[in-house]
Amino acid sequence: MSNSTNALFSEEARALLVLLGLVDNRADVMKLTTDLRKQGFEPALVALCISQAKLRSRAVTKFGLSAATRMLFTEQGLEQSTRAAVSSWHARRLADAGIKSVTDLGCGIGGDSMAFASAGITVTALEKDTAAADFASHNLSGFTNAEVRHGDAIEAEIATEAVWLDPARRNLSVKAAGRVMLKPEDFSPNLDFAIELARKHDAGIKLAGSLPHELIPADCEANWVSNNNELVETVLWFGKLGTPGKRSAVIVDGQVLEFAGEDIQAPLAAPGKYIYDPISAMVRSHLIGAFALENNLWGISGAIAYLSGDQRVETPWLRGFEILEELPLDAKRIAKRMAELDIGTLEIKKRGVDITPEQLRPKLKLRGQKSATLILTKINDARKALLCLPLG
Ligand SMILES: C[S@@+](CC[C@H](N)C(=O)[O-])C[C@H]1O[C@@H](n2cnc3c(N)ncnc32)[C@H](O)[C@@H]1O
Repeated sequence: MSNSTNALFSEEARALLVLLGLVDNRADVMKLTTDLRKQGFEPALVALCISQAKLRSRAVTKFGLSAATRMLFTEQGLEQSTRAAVSSWHARRLADAGIKSVTDLGCGIGGDSMAFASAGITVTALEKDTAAADFASHNLSGFTNAEVRHGDAIEAEIATEAVWLDPARRNLSVKAAGRVMLKPEDFSPNLDFAIELARKHDAGIKLAGSLPHELIPADCEANWVSNNNELVETVLWFGKLGTPGKRSAVIVDGQVLEFAGEDIQAPLAAPGKYIYDPISAMVRSHLIGAFALENNLWGISGAIAYLSGDQRVETPWLRGFEILEELPLDAKRIAKRMAELDIGTLEIKKRGVDITPEQLRPKLKLRGQKSATLILTKINDARKALLCLPLG
């Protein structure tokens, strides 16, 4: 155990953490610090516990109030941990496949491991970062069916039926900006190592939602997962945990919805009565062509992920808009029309054109009473602005 994490396990730290509860970003941390020092708490301990209380506050959205106020976090461990709603779905997949034991290689602060253990699966969790391993031990201490080890996944001997890997991303800031294509060595453990290991077991590998399709092997199932309207991961399933070659978009929001299909091009045609914006998980899964065909929809320009149709489609996979008018993508013409129509509140969306909403908005000098949505895109390769009303 490292010195700083060690201090958090003292009786005094426990008492101070209970006293602090959650510290959110509106709290006056200076005053809090001064007050606690006056009460005789050590400055270093106060700083350590306040940063834990702040992390706990941020963790509520991922883990819920009751778990977040008991758990311990590293900054990175919280950021990288799986949301409870999604880890519960991972655990259900394992339990439904009859898995009784799993090794979580690179467990972080234990988000996924907690869900596996809660589902009654025996968990061996391994983590190479000392602080994260200590905190995972604490976070899993309520489970008699979970054990945390400090060590390197590369040297691990697997004694369980299944393996779970949620590799960390290296060079996160640069890659997150989307400027550089992800490669196997950008993951730790390395993605090639993870896939090779996964092929020998029933296994799941959680990866970034932006994972390039070229890195996904043909012999696994791949799901692009959405939670709370955000694309949260691409998960690869091996062995009896998946169907090789299957590709699907999944929504995990209380209930689980799945759309599986082939990577095919949507038919292209001029916009119909409605335009639809598929959720990111659907776009990233490359299944919008298949979805369009199944739902009588079509694309409006090659490689642009808007769909259109003449029927109102209401589904969690799409956000829909009724098209009122098609305008040329010309700021002066749009500004004039917005004034004529008394539109003052305008949501601006764009796909496939270089202009940004931030560049266009000031030029429109909006001051009307009504609201609408403007979609900037290409229609058959011509730059257009579609004036729309969101479907209720
Ligand atoms: C994305 S996080 C895991 C988050 C976890 N699934 C959760 O829900 O809390 C990945 C973790 O893998 C650990 N890791 C990276 N390479 C490792 C290795 N070779 N051996 C063990 N752990 C490793 C990192 O330290 C990091 O904590």
